[in-house]
Amino acid sequence: MENENLAKTNINWYPGHMNKAKRQMQDELKLVDVIVELVDARIPYSSKNPDIDKLAGSKPRVLLLNKADLADEGRTKEYKAYYEKRGYHVLAVNAKTSAGIKSVLGVIKEACKEKRERDLKRGIIGRPLRAMIAGIPNVGKSTFINSFAGKSCTLTGNKPGVTKGKQWIRLNKELELLDTPGILWPKFEDQQVGLRIAWIGSINENILDSRELSVTLLSYLYENYPGVIAAKYGIEECADGNEALERIARKRACLKKGGETDIDRAAGFLMDDFRAGKIGRITLDRVQKTVE
Ligand code: G4P
Repeated sequence: MENENLAKTNINWYPGHMNKAKRQMQDELKLVDVIVELVDARIPYSSKNPDIDKLAGSKPRVLLLNKADLADEGRTKEYKAYYEKRGYHVLAVNAKTSAGIKSVLGVIKEACKEKRERDLKRGIIGRPLRAMIAGIPNVGKSTFINSFAGKSCTLTGNKPGVTKGKQWIRLNKELELLDTPGILWPKFEDQQVGLRIAWIGSINENILDSRELSVTLLSYLYENYPGVIAAKYGIEECADGNEALERIARKRACLKKGGETDIDRAAGFLMDDFRAGKIGRITLDRVQKTVE
């Protein structure tokens, strides 16, 4: 991946219960016809857990590029084409405002076309498709389930505590969703992947140095989105992330008692602005650089 030299932050974060989550997902996958996987459109490669591919086997795949409102539209289109070429049915959505959500049912049905035709030939009519929502933490799975299922849906299946049956959310007569999403963790073998997940705020802050995170992000933005930092903070374009952070601190009046700049506070502002999309619509992965 690009900017190898940016990956100086050593991210060692890996939850111990990963294998249990994987096994649970493997069991639950047997119950569904299709997987609806969510990734963060700002990092459509880095937020995609490759284990989901292995677990899914030959099941139809729908991939939702969520938080598309925060991502670079051009790169979202590129990633849509990239994943479609690899057999996914892809949609860019915004689960928070429900933009694009109306099209999801049609895409799921399209992805399951062969299965529905097979069912029909066997005389199975009217059985709803069953789907599982999956993805790494913080990509918007719960927000999506709420906006997709809405208020009109009903919970079906066995009552918890009575039997071990699963709970299903019945959207309509054509589709049911497993009520708990499948959660897997991102892969951190590539430090760049870890860094990008940290930039968008999906890693517990405490394990990372926010100053270093900001400096590396600034360097990335200077290289890939020239002009955005200058425009947002009214500072001159600088070649170096440290220098830029110093200037942002002065501009935003992040000063300590003696007048010295408070770099940590400036770093906090920068990360908050970036994560809220206030620096612009930015995507941190690039199709050309995606290594599989
Ligand atoms: P998860 O189940 O996959 O862990 O994710 P969850 O739905 O909890 O969403 C994580 C955060 O992402 C939430 O923000 C949610 O509002 C936000 N989010 C989800 N989808 C979108 C989207 O399409 N666009 C944008 N801009 N944001 C989205 P939060 O700050 O944790 O909560 P809140 O303050 O928004 O309620």
